[in-house]
Amino acid sequence: MGLRILSGIQPSGKLHLGNYFGALKQYLELQEIPDSEPYYFIADFHAMTTVQDGNDLRQYIQDAALDFLALGLDTQKSVFFRQTDVPEVTELTWMLSCVTGMGLLERAHSYKDKTAKGIKPSVGLFTYPVLMASDILIYKPKFVPVGQDQVQHIEMTQDIAQYFNNTYHCDVFVRPEPKLNATAKVPGVDGEKMSKSYGNTIELQLTGKPLKKVVMGIKTDSTPVEDPKDPATCNVFALYALFATDEEEEKLKAKYKAGGMGYGEAKKLLLQKIETYFEAYRKKREDLTKNLDYVQQVLREGAERARAVAQQTLDEAKKAAGLS
Ligand code: ADP
Ligand code: TRP
Repeated sequence: MGLRILSGIQPSGKLHLGNYFGALKQYLELQEIPDSEPYYFIADFHAMTTVQDGNDLRQYIQDAALDFLALGLDTQKSVFFRQTDVPEVTELTWMLSCVTGMGLLERAHSYKDKTAKGIKPSVGLFTYPVLMASDILIYKPKFVPVGQDQVQHIEMTQDIAQYFNNTYHCDVFVRPEPKLNATAKVPGVDGEKMSKSYGNTIELQLTGKPLKKVVMGIKTDSTPVEDPKDPATCNVFALYALFATDEEEEKLKAKYKAGGMGYGEAKKLLLQKIETYFEAYRKKREDLTKNLDYVQQVLREGAERARAVAQQTLDEAKKAAGLS
């Protein structure tokens, strides 16, 4: 077995720069490592905890598939599938929930954060980390690339693996390690963390006038044009740095410090970067949209490969627990 890697992304809205630089970019880089065996999936069961409109969810699942493929996910190198196409995961979720203490789940930050934001706490939202543990452990990955916000879920997964192995005196589950995404926090247009739930995103699909409107609207301070500006505290600069070469970054930094440049000029540079960087993606996405049968086929094939692995792990777990 090569270096198995696994990650999932929730289909809960349109992808934005934060998702790309915080997560997807790394997923795509990992598939290029020789010997890596990446498994990437659309966590549609997880999205049910917040998206509760069938048409919306259907659309978001399709969007996520198109985005992954248009951004360069290569099905020769990665196994790409939908969580719900692997029913073994939900069977295993039940088995894991029987060895997981309530206390572990009660300590979950993401549950507390989501309920604090006013999301109605369903049982599903509460047991979300057990489903996540199941869809990780069933593929026995060594690494799980995630953002900082998901690290606690991976630690819970490690605990749950150990509970099961200890309870049934077996070594069915392998301890997965979180692999932190390189870009910790991409700021949104208001300077807060870019997030769908804050309405401050720059979506990957935006182009032309709508993109210009969003970029020109990025919040900056009121330093007058002629004064020197601090690149370290500027949202426009932080976003520009994601795209720029070191040399380009240094050049803009010098302009900030020298004074005489308005934020509008930096915004135009950023706008140009976003337009060109995602041009190929937008084009490929448009082509794929005309070929949805192909996209379905890719997901079906991915699911078959994923299920073969999942069935084997589930069998081992059932055997250990006395269910076979
Ligand atoms: P959102 O906050 O928009 O709902 P998700 O929670 O679905 O985004 O995040 C999906 C992935 O993208 C996660 O791995 C998360 O860490 C990453 N991510 C989301 N927003 C950002 C951001 N602003 N900066 C860095 N990574 C991000
Ligand atoms: N909870 C993750 C998020 O919100 C998505 C997810 C579900 C996931 N299952 C996973 C991530 C397994 C990594 C591994 O971003």
